[in-house]
Parts: sequence; structure tokens; C-alpha cells
Amino acid sequence: MSSHTGFAGRTYVVTGSASGIGAATTALLRERDATVIGCDLCDAEIEADLSTPDGRQSMIDQVNEYGPIDAVLAIAGGGKTGLLETNYFGAVATLQGLRPLLARSPAPRAVAVSSTSSLAPANERVVQACLDGDEPAAVALLEADPAMGGTAGAYGAAKRGLNRWVRRVAPTSEWAGTGIALNVVASGVVDTPAASWIFADEAVRNAVETAAPQPFGGFPGRPEWVAELICWLSSADNRFVTGQVIFADGGAEVAAVGDRQWQ
Ligand SMILES: NC(=O)c1ccc[n+]([C@@H]2O[C@H](COP(=O)([O-])OP(=O)(O)OC[C@H]3O[C@@H](n4cnc5c(N)ncnc54)[C@H](O)[C@@H]3O)[C@@H](O)[C@H]2O)c1
Repeated sequence: MSSHTGFAGRTYVVTGSASGIGAATTALLRERDATVIGCDLCDAEIEADLSTPDGRQSMIDQVNEYGPIDAVLAIAGGGKTGLLETNYFGAVATLQGLRPLLARSPAPRAVAVSSTSSLAPANERVVQACLDGDEPAAVALLEADPAMGGTAGAYGAAKRGLNRWVRRVAPTSEWAGTGIALNVVASGVVDTPAASWIFADEAVRNAVETAAPQPFGGFPGRPEWVAELICWLSSADNRFVTGQVIFADGGAEVAAVGDRQWQ
């Protein structure tokens, strides 16, 4: 039996369960006697492509067939194509689409996974189109922006939008009002397939580490270090934390931002 409290008997939906942070989170939850319904492109209980509206709906329909759930962890992300579609619209559709089922749990919890990339300047019109729920407009605006239309621009805008969406909805009657804690875990660079392009080339690795040092824990971090925080936030033991964007990043965010928000 697990010595961890707040997990046994609970059912978790984990997107991105087949690899990296999602796989590490799934492993920790199962060790702690939780049931996990994994969702991914393949190698998961539910196979669906969250970059498309049809794939998102298929995932929601399949989860509803499973029955009651206690937590939704929107971890699927990264990627080389469809970055805005998966990292913003896929995550928001997962959380919104499963919210009614989740609200029936006695201790409902949700977590979205973002990134320190959300700290980078983003095309604010793209972010606004995301928050407006206008996927075609967001994608078109991004493609029309030569400075921000590349992979990094799309990814940063998606994660920035995700942080802002959670900050907007978490305190509302639909979320906090129905007892659902909804938080963001913003990851620093951790050793997963999504980040392998950073470690494949020594010069790239050095440039990324120099631009965003991780003074606590090291560069890169381990996926299970991020997974531990996701697990606690989504456990029944989390009774008082919601609407927070918490950086699990070896200190990258605090090194970059310092005490500015408190001035
Ligand atoms: N690894 C890092 O350094 C890092 C840093 C910041 C944030 N993140 C975030 O952490 C999350 C997990 O990434 P990871 O590093 O574990 O990467 P990973 O590639 O190891 O795992 C991501 C998983 O998401 C799945 N996925 C991707 N697109 C999907 C889609 N359209 N539909 C369904 N599933 C899809 C992949 O198949 C994969 O199994 C992502 O949201 C990523 O943006 C990672």
C-alpha cells in the first residue's frame, strides 16, 4: 500500500500519458493506488489527436464512457507542428470538456502544464484570439506574423494564453464555485523527448542554459520532479490552492523576474 495520501480510489485523466512528464505523472499516480485513464496519440487507454476539434471531442466522449473522474491533467503538448492547436486549444478543450464530469467528484482537481516559454514576449493579438476561443483567427494571425510565427512564437503564445485562461476561469462559479481546484504547473527544461533537440547539440544546450539558467536542481531537470507537483496539486490533499501558475523550473522564473511583481 502507498504511504501517500489523497490518491487512493481516485480516477485521473492524464493527457500526454505516453511520454515524458505525462508518463512520469502516470507512474507516480499508479504507484499511489490511483486509477489513470491515459490519453495520447498512441500507447494509451484513449488514443486521440488533441490538435483537432474532432480528436478533442473523441477524447471527451471516450472519457465519458469510462464514468466518474476525480482529476484532469492536461499535460499533452510540445510538438513541432500544430503548436497553438495542441498546447492551447487542446488543453483548454480537455479542461472545459471534462469539467462537467469532473464537477461530480467529491474532491475535483485539474492541472494544466505550461512552460517558462510563457515568460517570453508573445504576439498579444494571437493570445487574445486564443482567449476569445477563435482558433482559425489565432492560427491565421500567427502565420501572418513573421517575427512570432515560428515554432517558438507559437509555443510561447500558446502557453502564455493557457496561463491567462486558467487565471481567468479558476475563481469563477464553474470552477472554484463547484469545488474544482485548477492550477498551472509551468515547467522549466526537463529531460524528455520534447526537449531532446536542446541536448542534441552542445552549442544549443549551452545557449538555452545561458539564456534561462536553472540555479536550483540543475539543467535539465527530471520529469518526475515536475510530476510530483502535478500530483500534489491534483490530490485530495490540495484543499486551498487554486488559480496559481507555479513554476517547477529550477529557479529559472525567479532568476529572470526577481521581485518585480511585488514592487
Ligand atoms: N520537456 C521540457 O523541457 C518542457 C518544458 C516546458 C514545458 N513542457 C511541457 O510539458 C508537457 C509535456 O511535455 P514533455 O516534455 O513530457 O514531452 P513529451 O514529448 O515527452 O510528451 C508529450 C506527450 O504529449 C503527446 N502529444 C503531443 N501532441 C499531442 C496531440 N496532438 N494529441 C495527443 N497527445 C499529444 C505526445 O504524444 C507525448 O506522448 C508539454 O505540455 C510541454 O509543452 C516541457
